[in-house]
Amino acid sequence: MGIIGAPIARVDGRAKVTGRARYAAEAAVPGAVHAVLVQSTIAAGVVLAVETAAAEGMPGVLAILTPQNAPRLADVRPQAQLVPNPTLQDATVAYNGQTIAVVVAETLQQAEAAAAHVRARYRADEAITEMGDDLADAYVPKNFRNGMRKPDSARGDADAAFNAAPVQISATYTTPVEHHNPMEPHATIARWDGDRLTVWTATQYVSGARATLARLLGIDAGNVRVICPFTGGGFGCKGTTWPPAVLAAMAARSVNRPVKLVLDRRQMYTSNGFRPRTLQKLRLGATPDGQIVSLRHDGFTQMSLGDFGEFAEPVGLASEMLYAVPNAAVTHRLVAVNQGLPTYMRAPGEASGSFALESAIDEMAAALNMDPLDLRLRNYAESDPHENRPFSSKALRECYRAGAEAFGWAQRPLAPRCLRDGDVLVGWGMATALYPINRSAAQATLRMGADGRVFVRSGTQEIGGGTYTTMAQVTAEALGVPVGQVTAQLGDSAWPHAPVSGGSQTSASVLNAVVAAADALRARLAALAGLDARQVQLAAGTLVGPDGTRLRIDVLLARHGLDTIEATAESVPGDEKQRFSLHSFGAHFVEVQVDPAIGRIRIARHVGAFDTGRVLNARTARSQAIGGIIYGYGMALLEKTEVDAETGRYVNANLSDYLVPVNADVPDIVTIFVEKPDRNANPLGVKGLGELPTVGVAAAVANAVYHATGRRVRDLPIRVEDVLA
Ligand code: MOS
Repeated sequence: MGIIGAPIARVDGRAKVTGRARYAAEAAVPGAVHAVLVQSTIAAGVVLAVETAAAEGMPGVLAILTPQNAPRLADVRPQAQLVPNPTLQDATVAYNGQTIAVVVAETLQQAEAAAAHVRARYRADEAITEMGDDLADAYVPKNFRNGMRKPDSARGDADAAFNAAPVQISATYTTPVEHHNPMEPHATIARWDGDRLTVWTATQYVSGARATLARLLGIDAGNVRVICPFTGGGFGCKGTTWPPAVLAAMAARSVNRPVKLVLDRRQMYTSNGFRPRTLQKLRLGATPDGQIVSLRHDGFTQMSLGDFGEFAEPVGLASEMLYAVPNAAVTHRLVAVNQGLPTYMRAPGEASGSFALESAIDEMAAALNMDPLDLRLRNYAESDPHENRPFSSKALRECYRAGAEAFGWAQRPLAPRCLRDGDVLVGWGMATALYPINRSAAQATLRMGADGRVFVRSGTQEIGGGTYTTMAQVTAEALGVPVGQVTAQLGDSAWPHAPVSGGSQTSASVLNAVVAAADALRARLAALAGLDARQVQLAAGTLVGPDGTRLRIDVLLARHGLDTIEATAESVPGDEKQRFSLHSFGAHFVEVQVDPAIGRIRIARHVGAFDTGRVLNARTARSQAIGGIIYGYGMALLEKTEVDAETGRYVNANLSDYLVPVNADVPDIVTIFVEKPDRNANPLGVKGLGELPTVGVAAAVANAVYHATGRRVRDLPIRVEDVLA
């Protein structure tokens, strides 16, 4: 194993655990004052007046922005990746918890005290606060996947094939609203220097934040700098530049001081999106020997009645291509309610969609009296039946095989309620994981000094996946230097452009740019030496020529009077999307133990096997896989944002009532990487691992609960009352 792939410890690990890593709210910005949000207490209507007189007279108060007095923004068109509302541009209220004022004061305590004295008068309208099971007003998304995909698709005749099928499964699955709950809240410090704006903000996308702020504030993007060296978890809620970042910049301009705005945990539930509720109707038809002849997936997902843009959770895309089914139909519909705009949350679409699909496959296996893994293999897609293209690579069969073997799946009795440990029911379940391989144009700069030190720089983000580390590894290998000599720098929009750290695309985008920059740097060094770039290699601080002669780089640089040498390159996607269906794959095997007397469900064993292309760092990859699987446990057993139907307010908007898995909920997880670099996908051969591991976990757990208890739970999360004797 070279440097790429080696399980080296995170280069930023020590800074993080010792508290030296600085997050957005911790940036030292002298003279910063504090902003606090005031949020609506009704779910629908109009703010008639925000009464600020009492608060304005309180100590330290500098300004109170309201819909009446807030500066007008330059561009308030709601659209994807640009969410200008609610930025106090009008008085409409579309959900409970919508921001209706911003109080700015010298200290945080003064701002909080004053915010508590701001009162609003409303005209309250009738509100629909929850997406229920009434789908009468469901509508077709207008801008599905930003126009890149169709909300509806069909091949063959799914309905006719279903009606003719000897074995039929028809079931409805529901998943709840969930919130991302990163450890680090959204936080922004905004500082104006004349017409130049500097923003420290918690984001998955520094250049996206720059573009959005410039556009909304009506200034040139070149006058905006966004800095974010560390992001304390994002999971999708920091991919978009949400209103609080904009409001901080507006407030800073109003008071002519740097302004810090940090959301509290409750505000994290109303200010930066969530995973929408879904209701999914699945219909499968099969022959008695297990060929699935018809698949229909009708997905309904929650949207906002507010004029905030559109977000449609793409729950059915996996159903289009995961199995070799000749007749398939998929639809996506939205149901709008008085809540905020939903957004991307870890594997948006695949996470909720695979719960429905992979549960339905398990139900079909039970109906056929067939092993669920055998049923999946019986319908294995050798090429993408939706796109009609070969996969760039697909080692799902190897994931099934390796995972099943490590788990001992072959010993599984077919019927439910057959395994016991004393009074505890034991069940084994499995499900498939998949996620698209995404990649965008990205740039990187490499600078090598005569002292051998190398800096690699890109305007990407570290959201916890290990980007600092993998950037250093790829650079070290490409330049033939020890990884300890490489310093990675990221999280600054002033640096070469990189895409959003979302869609699991960072490695495929940024690290291919690093390789390209290394090629460019090698070419520059070769040119200095008068050699052909294609014939030289870099190793141990030397340029190795075609005849094996070595030229020390420090000597070469000195000869040309240089201290350092630098190269920037861009890596852009090629035609791989036209030629191939691009996906990562995986398989989960889970053992649950259910105590029917008290309804306790414990996950006892888990094997996750993944085809994620080339593994860049065995340690960070395993860490990412474990993290994603644990996220899946939350979805399966714990997470649900509860809405009070009367007020439309979230009743568990905190980390004690909104349950997430803790160590005691997690078994020792076995991870397997079926490593096959995918050169069809990109030069480095990486396939993306950010979101893949969470996909399928909820279904695997639900399938295991069925196997343990004989009860099929189709509504997440699975709870005590679902399995009580
Ligand atoms: Mo991820 S939900 O694409 O940040």
